[in-house]
Amino acid sequence: PMTTTTPTDRHAAARETLAAIGQEHVLTFYDQLDDAGKTQLLDQIEGVDWPEVVELIESHVKAKPEFEMPDTIEPAPWYPHTPGDDQRAKYIEAQRTGEKLVQDGKVACFTVAGGQGTRLGWDGPKGTFPATPIRKLPLFACFAEYIHNIQNRYGIKVPWYVMTSPINDADTRAFFEKSSYFGLKKENVMIFPQAMMPALDMTTGKVLLAGKDAIALSPNGHGGSLKALFTSGAIADMHKRGVTQISYTQVDNPIVRMIDPLFLGLHELDGAGMSSKMLPKAYPKEKLGNFCKVDGKVTVIEYSNLPDELAEQRTDDGELRFRAGSIALHAIQVAFVEKLNTRPSESGSSGASFALPWNRAEKKVAHLDLTTGELIEPTEPNAVKLETFVFDALPMSETSIVYETDRIDEFAPIKNADSAEGEPENADSPASSKRIQTERAARWLEKNKVRVARQEDGTVDAVIELPQVTAIYPDDLEDEKLPGGIKAGSEVVI
Ligand code: UTP
Repeated sequence: PMTTTTPTDRHAAARETLAAIGQEHVLTFYDQLDDAGKTQLLDQIEGVDWPEVVELIESHVKAKPEFEMPDTIEPAPWYPHTPGDDQRAKYIEAQRTGEKLVQDGKVACFTVAGGQGTRLGWDGPKGTFPATPIRKLPLFACFAEYIHNIQNRYGIKVPWYVMTSPINDADTRAFFEKSSYFGLKKENVMIFPQAMMPALDMTTGKVLLAGKDAIALSPNGHGGSLKALFTSGAIADMHKRGVTQISYTQVDNPIVRMIDPLFLGLHELDGAGMSSKMLPKAYPKEKLGNFCKVDGKVTVIEYSNLPDELAEQRTDDGELRFRAGSIALHAIQVAFVEKLNTRPSESGSSGASFALPWNRAEKKVAHLDLTTGELIEPTEPNAVKLETFVFDALPMSETSIVYETDRIDEFAPIKNADSAEGEPENADSPASSKRIQTERAARWLEKNKVRVARQEDGTVDAVIELPQVTAIYPDDLEDEKLPGGIKAGSEVVI
């Protein structure tokens, strides 16, 4: 660690650190920089965990880490969406327990929004993307409506933590400000950035420069949230508020249940440290992580790592044996995050010892030519980015439950850009998300005796938007004044 303070000292210390590990080129343009540029570059250099980067260059850049197949993999057990006869009493108790947690102010919402959203290609934080079919409500506003619903329902205030990255933090804050925090109380919304990792040249392992005064840094993966929650002071803030459970959701799903009392209640009753929601996979190799049991712990095995033979296995009733797919929704005990961050490290030094495995991704990263100082825009992947995944913390939890949710009720992610006009709809795109949002609204209306125009193939022949401040469950519509029917070709906000 460099603790010196004058710019000259800092520069000398940085040069020494970098020279020792063959990364001195990071300072190539240092002498050409003004004071602000120098400070920025030194700040960035001092913010990198160099010993870790050195290790990762050997293990993840120069070599490709091999997935180690555990000896025995079983499907993780899960709580079904609809309880079996022997589970009904438990679900009732769980619902009550979860509602009491929420009512007592013990649950916080947590949105991870630090990703770069490169696939969507939206200019701005993904949370500012217009996601709903008619009102074009931005994702952050969808979440705020959900929180308003919960607050109205229980007569409480729900704290909301939003993780950004240094890349989108200022824009995210500005958006919340501009939107007056969507009517939420500013003091109940906490925005904090996650940590970054340098992008590394795929062949040489050299750190890439994004500018003369900047390392090419990118967010260190959603796994970084488990550290950032602690280092940002969010966990301490939760303590002050009496929060004991974190409801973890992603920024990309406008209909996500930000708070689900039944899920939280099952997690609480079973004393789980970190739990997950799942969807039954639509087909064996659907691109979702698989909830498995390895050495007695719930563990996510990525679809690419699950052998075909296992992925294709069927149970006696013809269902996929490995059925539970991860949709990145978790309930996490505050105490679990705290324990990860404070347990003594294995080497005996103080500080957190928990480390999530790093994942290697080959990406196109723009970088400076060190001779000319020109920016090179690669056309092929040239760099390795390193990320950790939050679900890799699951096996660190003694107990962990998996609960099945419903695809249409809760899963309309926006990951990819829309397809070109006339082309088939892209999966997980704004268009597919809006279609699912309409389908959900239609189903809930139909449950409440509203006729909805459907085409011959069953798809809804209208566009319907159901604000979450109005309904987060079908039953919420019982007391609403509803239209008699939804006509073909109409656009209706309920
Ligand atoms: P994705 O895996 O979809 O990645 O993130 P992404 O970076 O947003 O998008 P692409 O791959 O560049 O297109 C899933 C969730 O995890 C968050 C994202 O904001 C999203 O909510 N995330 C991802 C972080 O908070 N930090 C990260 O470093 C990565």
